[in-house]
Amino acid sequence: MFPVTNTVRFVLDGQIVEAKGVRRTTTVLDYLREQLQRTGTKEGCAEGDCGACVVMVGELNASGQGVDYRPINSCIHLLPSLDGKSIKTVESLKRADGSLHPVQQAMVDCHGSQCGFCTPGIVMSLVNLVQIKPQPQRLDITDALSGNLCRCTGYKPIIDATRQACQKGLGLKLDDQADVPLLKEIRRASVPTLSLEGEIISQPVLRTRKGNEFVAPSTVAEVAAYLVQHPQATLLAGSTEIGLQVNKQYTRPEHIVYLGNVTELRQVQDSPQAWRVGAAVSLEVTMSLIKDAYPDFAEVLRRFGSPPIRSTATLAGNIANGSPIGDSMPCLLALSARLQLRRGHKTRNILLEQFYTGQKRNVLQPGEFIEAVEIPKPRPGQVFKAHKISKRFEQDISATCAAIRFEWDQGRLKNVQLAYNGLAPSPCRAPRLEAVLEGQTPQAVTPTALDAAIAASFTARDGLRATWAYRALVARNLVLQFIEDNQTVEA
Ligand SMILES: Cc1cc2nc3c(=O)[nH]c(=O)nc-3n(C[C@H](O)[C@H](O)[C@H](O)COP(=O)(O)OP(=O)(O)OC[C@H]3O[C@@H](n4cnc5c(N)ncnc54)[C@H](O)[C@@H]3O)c2cc1C
Ligand code: FES
Ligand code: FES
Repeated sequence: MFPVTNTVRFVLDGQIVEAKGVRRTTTVLDYLREQLQRTGTKEGCAEGDCGACVVMVGELNASGQGVDYRPINSCIHLLPSLDGKSIKTVESLKRADGSLHPVQQAMVDCHGSQCGFCTPGIVMSLVNLVQIKPQPQRLDITDALSGNLCRCTGYKPIIDATRQACQKGLGLKLDDQADVPLLKEIRRASVPTLSLEGEIISQPVLRTRKGNEFVAPSTVAEVAAYLVQHPQATLLAGSTEIGLQVNKQYTRPEHIVYLGNVTELRQVQDSPQAWRVGAAVSLEVTMSLIKDAYPDFAEVLRRFGSPPIRSTATLAGNIANGSPIGDSMPCLLALSARLQLRRGHKTRNILLEQFYTGQKRNVLQPGEFIEAVEIPKPRPGQVFKAHKISKRFEQDISATCAAIRFEWDQGRLKNVQLAYNGLAPSPCRAPRLEAVLEGQTPQAVTPTALDAAIAASFTARDGLRATWAYRALVARNLVLQFIEDNQTVEA
């Protein structure tokens, strides 16, 4: 028998909550609604799409004096990942004197709510926005709302309400000072426990009588050691895939290793050649990192899910999940991104294009994981373009996404690297198309030559998101667009 550990500790509105006896896969949403009666947070889709369940999760900031928040879809986050953090729900917004938060009051004044089902999620997304941007532009507001679906009100009064709330700029900030000492009190050790023999012992957040565990290590050495001991354990990064597997496929992993508390994996190393993005760095952070060097890549990421998805989802999770229509991979492949893989103490560094061996299959050995993704910085004279085609602009996965990198050499395309998702069992480079482009002037590249290369490169198959005819046409036209767009740059 294993000793049972069954308490998740988090801070809610100036109090420590000790959640006892929860399962490894209990969602934050279920716990809030069923155990804490915080029923303002709603369940719509249970798959991260509708935003009815948005809450804010807080962590001590770098100075230790305040709390940094991020919005999450509570339906797809597992309660044990909240251990050591704080949470704000729509109920948290009520002031001591009973008055509403300015965003809530403006929603009332501007008629921003009808049936009200979406309203708590919308309010939480907007309150999160105004913590970071008290004077948001229209695009900031629509971006913040891109993961909140409202069927009856229409978005204009909601956008008006946000503007109205921000006009005075007063009372927008959440008062979280009571949470700060409590967050310090429940903070977990930042160094691993060692046995007398010097071996790392992972202290689980939860452990059942059978010995199944949810562990939340704080160092990469702990992750590596745990995975060597439990090679079948499920890694949990941003939970935006795993959460769906739990809710929709009723997956119940025996051992879960949460990466979100691992300091090294949350870091970005910035060298003159590349950014080394740790496996627990969120897409929001990645987006701000690369936005000046690669605006098109940043735009692909801006259209990746919604802010509550991007606030926790990771590049490593996107890559490891290996969906044929995963969005970050075409950009990363075109840029020759590399992966640092780790098993125990051993690391290896491979190109992303060497990673996939088939649909959702890859070269990871049992117990091995992605430690970091290296994104090369632009070379002098390099052009990078990318575009995602999807049915909806936001909160939708690709029909196809293409990315290209090249240089100009006296009006000719040189060192072309082109990659797609949606055309093959995994995102991939397109060497035959690259050969059509290499050394050519844009005028010499014909649609017929590109069509022939597409037909020779990929197996035609219709998919749920698009027919093959559509995808093939888009794949060709995007290339033509990319090189046409950039002729002016060369001139
Ligand atoms: C509403 C919604 C919208 C979405 N929109 C998009 C979109 O626009 N484009 C898109 O491409 N995807 C989209 N996704 C899918 C998902 O968000 C991405 O695949 C995301 O990048 C997964 O990252 P994560 O950190 O959340 O992964 P997790 O769910 O934590 O893990 C995903 C998989 O990767 C494994 N894993 C995680 N980290 C590692 C690691 N370091 N090493 C090895 N294995 C690891 C996990 O074990 C799991 O199998 C969406 C999902 C939702 C729910
Ligand atoms: S319930 Fe729809 S996003 Fe969570
Ligand atoms: S107010 Fe009814 S769904 Fe938005």
